[in-house]
Amino acid sequence: MLIVDDLSKTYADGTEALSGIGLSVRQGEIVALIGGSGCGKTTLLRLIAGLDQASRGSVQVDGEAIRAPHPSVGVVFQEPRLLPWLDVAGNVGFGLAALPRAERRSRVAHALERVGLAEYGHRWPRELSGGQQQRVAIARAFVAQPRVLLLDEPFSALDAFTRKGLHEQLLDLWTESKPTILIVTHDVGEAVTLADRVVVMRPRPGRLDETVAIGLSRPRDPVAPTYEEAVRRVLAALDRSLRPAQTGPRPTPETRASWW
Ligand SMILES: Nc1ncnc2c1ncn2[C@@H]1O[C@H](COP(=O)(O)OP(=O)(O)OP(=O)(O)O)[C@@H](O)[C@H]1O
Ligand SMILES: [Mg+2]
Repeated sequence: MLIVDDLSKTYADGTEALSGIGLSVRQGEIVALIGGSGCGKTTLLRLIAGLDQASRGSVQVDGEAIRAPHPSVGVVFQEPRLLPWLDVAGNVGFGLAALPRAERRSRVAHALERVGLAEYGHRWPRELSGGQQQRVAIARAFVAQPRVLLLDEPFSALDAFTRKGLHEQLLDLWTESKPTILIVTHDVGEAVTLADRVVVMRPRPGRLDETVAIGLSRPRDPVAPTYEEAVRRVLAALDRSLRPAQTGPRPTPETRASWW
């Protein structure tokens, strides 16, 4: 279980990036974080990953405080960040140096197979497409069997077709080991396809706004009326998060468009 308690972050220049974030995520739950640019999504993920220090508050995974990078918490960024001097198998197995060679090999082979790259272990990262490189990054994250997996807009640089395939592969891998997943996305369809819950953030300072429960069985059919209804609920929550707190005018079409 992931528990974020009263988490705040003010950067050295005085930017109040996050204020009083409280969030509990069950083991195996998938939560999507969505919100306008600059509302603190990446800051929140970096704090949960232990890549940066909070100004106040705490992060716990299964009762253990996270203050520095931890093997229980895996991260996938927007760019694949592969090591160019290692082949694909070397990249996926990079964090498994402590394991016996045979086990490392079999785990790497399994992870590559699950992302459709069984034949690519000896290729170099530069020989792969952007979508293939991101699949290697996902395999690398899963191979370490994290309890919590954080993904920061992992598919936003990819075309819709590639993205759909990656959603399926991500869910396949999730089914095997059921890590808790927190995924940042700007794509409402992606949030509704993947998540049990969509949490909307509000900026200046970054804080959590509404939570939308999705409650659809998987696999999800994007043309089902229930799916479309969930998309509408998330869009409505996003729309409300653009208004000034409590009262205030509805956003103009221009401010609404600034989401994208
Ligand atoms: N290292 C830093 N120093 C100072 N301010 C920062 C730093 N990193 C981020 N910020 C500021 O903190 C706020 C939150 O930034 P963050 O990157 O977390 O937003 P985000 O929600 O991920 O945005 P996007 O959707 O554009 O990725 C922004 O106002 C940003 O300018
Ligand atoms: Mg970001």
